[in-house]
Order: sequence, then structure tokens, then C-alpha cells
Amino acid sequence: MRMRNKQRKTTILGWNAGSRCSMPTLIWSLVGFLLLLHFYSTLHKTDKVEETQLQMSHPSFQELQVVEEENIQIPPPRGRRSPRAAKRRPKKKTTLIDEFLDENSPIRHVFFPDRRSAVDPTKDTGNDSSYYFPGRMWLDTEGNPIQAHGGGIMYDPRSRMYYWYGEYKDGPTFIAPKGIARVDIIGVSCYSSKNLWTWRNEGIVLAAEEANETHDLHKSNVLERPKVIYNEKTGKYVMWMHIDDANYTKAAVGVAISDYPTGPFDYVFSKQPHGFESRDMTIFKDDDGMAYLVYSSEDNSELHIGPLTEDYLDVTPVMKKILVGQHREAPALFKHDETYYMITSGCTGWAPNEALAHAAESIMGPWETVGNPCIGGSKMFKLTTFFAQGTFVLPLAGLPASFIFMADRWNPADLRDSRYVWLPLIVGGPADWPLEYNFGFPSWSRVSIYWHRKWRLPSGWSDIKR
Ligand SMILES: *[C@@H]1O[C@H](CO)[C@@H](O)[C@H](O)[C@H]1NC(C)=O
Ligand SMILES: *[C@@H]1O[C@H](CO)[C@@H](O)[C@H](O)[C@H]1NC(C)=O
Ligand SMILES: *[C@@H]1O[C@H](CO)[C@@H](O)[C@H](O)[C@H]1NC(C)=O
Repeated sequence: MRMRNKQRKTTILGWNAGSRCSMPTLIWSLVGFLLLLHFYSTLHKTDKVEETQLQMSHPSFQELQVVEEENIQIPPPRGRRSPRAAKRRPKKKTTLIDEFLDENSPIRHVFFPDRRSAVDPTKDTGNDSSYYFPGRMWLDTEGNPIQAHGGGIMYDPRSRMYYWYGEYKDGPTFIAPKGIARVDIIGVSCYSSKNLWTWRNEGIVLAAEEANETHDLHKSNVLERPKVIYNEKTGKYVMWMHIDDANYTKAAVGVAISDYPTGPFDYVFSKQPHGFESRDMTIFKDDDGMAYLVYSSEDNSELHIGPLTEDYLDVTPVMKKILVGQHREAPALFKHDETYYMITSGCTGWAPNEALAHAAESIMGPWETVGNPCIGGSKMFKLTTFFAQGTFVLPLAGLPASFIFMADRWNPADLRDSRYVWLPLIVGGPADWPLEYNFGFPSWSRVSIYWHRKWRLPSGWSDIKR
């Protein structure tokens, strides 16, 4: 059970004021206080806790938290037998990341299994039905690989459907002037599902501009990380996305709007929010209907967060700088038990790196880093976010403290063939990193993302929701 920062701080001040007390008095006051606090929180949370324990003791829920190890062997250096290669001095030791980034690696299939193992929800796959296979190709109901990279999911209570929006990248990859692999903008795709496993292609809901070279959506530009939320007050679906030129110098956010979740969306405008550069970004809609924009700024060295206007079509002048100097990108925000959490990645281009989880009591901060959330796989899996980069965290309605962590396993040699790594994310247990304040008492829970070669949502999940 989480205890609030503020309560802790008050206590500490109280102890300082009473420092003339004898040691036993101090200790017994502390014990008494903790018991009271426990009693208080128990009173308030009994129902919730019982419900949570019920769910958490369910076998299929525990299955999600099994720690699976992976042991991927780095292949011997190639060309070793050739006399010329043997004479050459051995280069720096190859790492699994080098193998991952090498499109000719003999273990390529480990990271990018071929079409034969594709997840195809339209086929009778027997025991594998409903299972996610992180990294495998994933087909839509027409048998085509899902194209929704850097995406996010919106649940639409009106149609009782999940909509997955992402970058449609089914075009050739080439190298842009600054050496960055890219695919021309094709547009934002949308897929719909009732069970989060079988996805129907709803088409391109915001398309690139073919002719108008001055338009933000001209195919030569960059459109990344589209996210959609519904505005109850205006009845509109609002999309926010990262808009850039091929050299990533524009560094702006774009906004589009539609009457329907399946579009078409009308492009509204782009801007640098609060007058700052904005690259990787996300939006988050809170329970109270307030929505927020989070973006990487100042050369990706910090994140900025600020509320959107009531119609979600612009930012307000309010903005806070968070995780300053920490160089984080790919933010994905979620909320659990009145605490805000965020997963971010480091900044290493298309190459994978270590994810970190952050937590805050107020969405506007202060945000504290609580550690690397990745569990299982191997040391290298943990240091590379399972060879992927986060894009969104989806709450699982009806399953307390449970989310799906959605990540992209980028394939810079052929971006359209980037894969999806979806894994269960559970909030619970003490955080790993000691906190700067309150003498190391963790005031928020651990965020854990469990590696699984295959996994599925607890059976009956779709019945218990809502
Ligand atoms: C499916 O599971 C059953 C029971 O665990 C097992 O006997 C069977 O061999 C499995 N079938 C396949 C195709 O894996
Ligand atoms: C091209 O796009 C710009 C920017 O959106 C717009 O102002 C202009 O009217 C467009 N031109 C044409 C011919 O549509
Ligand atoms: C991008 O950079 C290249 C070379 O640095 C330059 O030729 C090109 O005009 C730039 N494009 C944009 C859109 O700024």
C-alpha cells in the first residue's frame, strides 16, 4: 500500500520538532503512527484491496508475472576461417545489440521471425489462439501485417471498440540527408478490435499530401507517434502527432480532428508548443476530462508537460519542465491509484536502449525516476527494453493494476517490418530506487513489465471488463 509523500514529510518535520523526546518514546510514537496510518488506509481501501487480491490470485493473472529467462547466444565472428580475416586484428567485441542492428546477422530470426510464424487471428491456431507473441509478425483480419507503428490505443465507449492508431509505414525505407532511415509519410492508420487481439484495418484516417510541398503532411516530411482522445464536450475525436521535416528541424506538434473514431481526420495546424521544440510526444486524458501534452524538448534533454485547452485543440500557456537533463524520449503515461506513472526511453535513434519508469503525485510534477521496469529475458533484454521502445500504456479495464505496455521493435533496415512488443505491465510492490526525499521510504509502487515469449490476457477478461 502506498503512502503519500506529503504525509511522510509532515512526520519528519514533526520528529525534528520533538527531538528532545527520549528514544523509546520516539520509537513507540513511530510504531503507533504507522499502525494508525495502516489502519486508516486499510479502512479506506478494504473493498479495493479485496477485489485486487481476488484478481491477483487468479492463476491466469499470476501467469503474467512469471519471470521467463532468455539465453540468446552471440554467434561466432563471421569470416573467421578466411585467412585474411584471421590476420586482421579482432575488432571490438560484438554485442547482442550489434547483432540486432545487423540485418545480415545469422540470428536475425530471433529478433525478426519470418512470415511463417506470423500471428494470424483469422486462422485456427489451436492452443495459440489469443496469444501475443512479442516480435512476431502480426496480421490483421485481411491477412496483412498490421501497420500501426509508434501508435496508441483509444477505447471508445460509444462503439465499445478499441481503436489502434499508428504510423502506416508500408513503403520503401531510404536514408535521409542526415543519415536517418525514413519512410515517406503515407498517413495514420486505424485498426479496430473488441478483444485487443483480432484487428480489422479501418484504413488510413489521416493521409499524406502528395502534391502540396508546403503542407506539413507532404510525404517528404515526418509524422510520428499519433495519439487520439475523445472530447466529451465537443463530441470530437482529436489526434495529436509529432510533425517534422526530414532533418528534424521543425520540431512541432500537429493536431487533427474528426467526428468519427475511424476518420477521416481533418488536419488543423502545427506549432511549437509553448514556443519550444517538440519531438517525441504523447497525450494523456485524465479521469476528470483534462488532457495533457508531454513532449521531448531542448534537444531531447528534458520533457515538458502542460494541459490542453477544453476542446483539446491547443495547449494552454501552463507548462512545467520535468526530468530536466535526463535525455528521455518516447513518453507513455498512465495512472494507477491516484498516482501518475510514465515510461520513457533513452535517446539513441532507432537503436534500442534502457527504459525507465517515473512517478508523480501530481501530473505536473515533481516527477521522480523509480527505476527500470523491465523484468525477465536477460540482462541485455533489460538494458534494451526487450529490443524495443515504448509507445503507449493501455489500462486493462476490470483488471486492477494491470496494463499492456506497447512498444515498437524498430527495424531501421526496413521500417515497415518493425514489430510490436506488447507485454503485461503490473503496478505493485516496493520501488527499486531509493528516493531522494523521505529517507528512502518508497512512496510509490514498483512498475514491472514482464517479458514473455508468448502470453495472453486472463481468460474471461473480456467478460469481466466494465
Ligand atoms: C494443445 O494443448 C494440449 C493440452 O495441453 C496438448 O495435448 C496438445 O498437444 C496441444 N496442441 C498443440 C498443437 O500444441
Ligand atoms: C498548401 O498547403 C499550405 C499549408 O497548409 C496551404 O496554405 C496552401 O493553401 C496549400 N496550397 C494548395 C494549392 O492547396
Ligand atoms: C536537410 O538537410 C540537407 C543537408 O543537410 C539539406 O540539403 C536540405 O535542404 C535540408 N532539408 C530541409 C527540409 O531542411
